[in-house]
Amino acid sequence: MAYNLLKGKKGIIFGALNEQSIAWKVAQRAVQEGAEIILSNAPIALRMGELNKLGEECNAPIIGADVTSNDDLVNLFTKSQEHFGGGVDFVLHSIGMSINVRKGLPYPENNYDFTHKGLDISALSLHRVLQTAMKMDAINEWGSVLALTYIAAQRVFPDYNDMADNKAYLESIARSFGYYYGKKKHVRINTISQSPTRTTAGSGVKGFDGFISYAEKMSPLGNASADQCADYCVSMFSDLTKMVTMQNLFHDGGFSFTGVTQEVIEQMEK
Ligand code: NAI
Repeated sequence: MAYNLLKGKKGIIFGALNEQSIAWKVAQRAVQEGAEIILSNAPIALRMGELNKLGEECNAPIIGADVTSNDDLVNLFTKSQEHFGGGVDFVLHSIGMSINVRKGLPYPENNYDFTHKGLDISALSLHRVLQTAMKMDAINEWGSVLALTYIAAQRVFPDYNDMADNKAYLESIARSFGYYYGKKKHVRINTISQSPTRTTAGSGVKGFDGFISYAEKMSPLGNASADQCADYCVSMFSDLTKMVTMQNLFHDGGFSFTGVTQEVIEQMEK
């Protein structure tokens, strides 16, 4: 059901790769709610071509940007300002990548070149996006910026590897930049900490199937789906949540505050 929550709003959505991507669902949902959007992803992801389908469906231009490149981000915001004739009202950062995870290097054996690259892509990129936007005055007054994160930033999930550190850094940037952008332009910045979700990035984590069913059993409401995450993002982009900023918001069916559940106890007693 649509409520026109984003009527007249304009936004940039980073990170839709394929139909499973959380950003893909957010793009569809934002447009359903009346928004106009631009889609962005790394040039290598654009070459896969899947994003064109979403671009057509959402009537959205696709502008490539590697989020580790200042020039690419300046180009993206320049084109966005031209396209919309001004700033945007919301930005979704839905980007994550760990080369240590990809190469199967356990946390204590991480390769620091890989660590640097993963940190740059997964966390520092939020700072880079915000710094570029602020310099170019590319986000409107009371704009809303969201980045997606995972509870491994607070608790240990061994196979999440160095992505845990990346997420902790990402959440901290949202808080710190939230202060400055809030003071300057009432722009609010939050992170949404989502349940494990079957996507390309998610499935790259070792033991993901066990992970996802454990979380399902440990959450009173069950795991939150990508579609439900999109609903939450839309509400955070809307004017109904104007005074929320610098927060890490758990969207996980209650997982983060559950000690144990009956289902897990029964499993242990088997
Ligand atoms: P996904 O694989 O569909 O999305 C990750 C995106 O990052 C891809 O579109 C990829 O092209 C993009 N990306 C990678 N390197 C880039 C670069 N240099 N420049 C620009 N874009 C780049 O997977 P998913 O799960 O939708 O991930 C979205 C976000 O949600 C990530 O931040 C992820 O950590 C987070 N998240 C995912 C969960 C899950 O279980 N799937 C749980 C909690 C958070």
